[in-house]
Amino acid sequence: MKNIFILLACCLSFLSAHVSAQSNNTITVKANELVATVQPTMWGVFFEDINMGADGGIYAELIKNRSFEFYKPLMGWKILGKPQTEGDFLIQNREQANLANPRFLRVTLHNNTKGSIGLNNEGFRGMGIKTGLRYDFSVMYRQPAGSNTKMHIELVDSAGRSIGGTVLTTSTAEDWKKQSVSFNASATDPNAKFNIWFEGNGTVDLDMISLFPSDTWKNRPGGMRADMIQLLADLKPGFIRFPGGCIVEGHDLSVRYQWKKTIGPIEERQLIINRWNTEFAHRPTPDYFQTFGLGFFEYFQLAEDIGAEPLPILNSGMACQFNTAEVVPLNQLDPYVQDALDLIEFANGDSTTKWGKVRAQMGHIAPFNLKLLGVGNENWGPQYIERLHIFHKAIKEKYPNIKLVTSSGTDPNGERFDYLNGELRKMKADIIDEHFYRRPEWFLQNASRYDKYDRKGSKIFAGEYAAQSDKVVSIHNKNNWQTAIAEAAFMTGMERNADVVVMSSYAPLFAHVDAWQWTPDMIWVDNLRSYGTPNYYAQKLFSTNKGTNVVPILRNNEIIAGKDSLYASATIDKNTNEVIVKIVNTSGQSKTHDISIEGVKKLNPKATLTLLKAEKLEDVNSLSNPGAIQPEDQAIQLKGRKLNLLMAPYSFNVIKIKIAR
Ligand code: AHR
Repeated sequence: MKNIFILLACCLSFLSAHVSAQSNNTITVKANELVATVQPTMWGVFFEDINMGADGGIYAELIKNRSFEFYKPLMGWKILGKPQTEGDFLIQNREQANLANPRFLRVTLHNNTKGSIGLNNEGFRGMGIKTGLRYDFSVMYRQPAGSNTKMHIELVDSAGRSIGGTVLTTSTAEDWKKQSVSFNASATDPNAKFNIWFEGNGTVDLDMISLFPSDTWKNRPGGMRADMIQLLADLKPGFIRFPGGCIVEGHDLSVRYQWKKTIGPIEERQLIINRWNTEFAHRPTPDYFQTFGLGFFEYFQLAEDIGAEPLPILNSGMACQFNTAEVVPLNQLDPYVQDALDLIEFANGDSTTKWGKVRAQMGHIAPFNLKLLGVGNENWGPQYIERLHIFHKAIKEKYPNIKLVTSSGTDPNGERFDYLNGELRKMKADIIDEHFYRRPEWFLQNASRYDKYDRKGSKIFAGEYAAQSDKVVSIHNKNNWQTAIAEAAFMTGMERNADVVVMSSYAPLFAHVDAWQWTPDMIWVDNLRSYGTPNYYAQKLFSTNKGTNVVPILRNNEIIAGKDSLYASATIDKNTNEVIVKIVNTSGQSKTHDISIEGVKKLNPKATLTLLKAEKLEDVNSLSNPGAIQPEDQAIQLKGRKLNLLMAPYSFNVIKIKIAR
């Protein structure tokens, strides 16, 4: 009898171990329980002119300091040959007549022959030139009667050899005149430079000396670098936030970002210093300015081009609190608030309105359909809240449908955050912008952050985040797989909580390998090439596999947010009729799980697994090996409603299954 009991106990314990092993091993997706709608804005991009993101980056202008407005007016330029007399190359300042573009260069010639005297421009860390491509040169000039000049323009490669050029013959021009000429390059060079050789006699005044490649995004003259914009377009971002970032605030208020100074003819857009010029003593960038050839009109147009909602962020009457922390007195805030109201009119007003007319005159008659507007970037303290109240009241009174994005400061927790979060929720803020630059472990430990959020209150914009392999603002931070997989794990938590988190964006977006101030960054470029980091591909897998509705994905009836190093979310896509499962395995061991899809009648047995993985957490992509870590598709097979999934070590797995009709 005793033996029978022992046998029974053994059987029971084996059975229960087996059952629990089985239940532990099964991941269930409840495909018919729609728990949240995924907003079309969910996965977006954050653009800031940092790391030479705009000038020297997406703005394809090749000439640095084209209008001599940098603090050192000839920065980027070199005089070639030997001027005959002092003042043959003279910077003149007409500030009284033209505040926005005061300086120009007067060149005096003394019967010079070609090759005797000239100017050289070094570009932004050189110029990326492509063989066979057309380059468009333009210049604004004045030339009095009696002067007779020619400009021989040429590109030279890194060894100083001519790789294409042409001649521009000027004519008498009492007033400023723009003239253009084009030529083809005969060689590819990532580090070319540009020369103008003068010939003739007399004086010629020069301004806005410009050289653009013809292969810009959508072939727009004076446009953007196509390869960089294509990487953005491929993300199918739900929104684009611009122009930053701290750039909105400025080091002090005099150099804050003012959108009105960034629109209209480019020669009338007033340059300012880029606040990243001086920000980091260890990464000085003395030649970093904002020319605003890329301004608010172009940002709106870009948003439209790539199908993203525009999200402009405006200064709230406060300069960067890490720098001067200047604030504008409350009784002088009106112009700032007016800028916000005027921006909405610029974007949405018809041609009968003052600012709508300006937009129409710039070539965009239809409104840009602005729905979102940010007030303040990383501002904090009661000074921000009292200014925000004034903006909020004025904007909501005139434009009740515009959703306002508001700042919760610099960190996702702590005193500043708690204060702002409390105040913003009291004022029923539409959308609260949270920033987190943290170590990868933080992202893993906080993957269920939004599970605890109030479902009925303000919505969340995870506006700037990136896992830091070292620490914030460290120059040793890498865009390695450890950071990307931690972000992917965290993003499953955002997706699971899509009723609360309505927008999110990695930051910063771009960095030039020879001109960066901040790392990590999502996309790295040199003068000719660009590549997506593993972090880019993690973002892309979410943004291009978004789905329309969140459905529960559970193990042992619990959300999957870190137990056994697994993180998961699931959506269905009502448009494509698919179930989309995302599972991140952050452990170094492979894992096998049954995934059971419940609540649907029938599934197509042929499904796809898109796998993003790396051998080691330290692995990175690079200019020489841009695809070291990139998604790969595999066909997988279901048995009925079940899938037996083998997850590779350190892997991000996206499974797409068609619901059969
Ligand atoms: O993304 C870089 C900077 O980080 C942003 O400009 C700022 O908002 C944050 O501190």
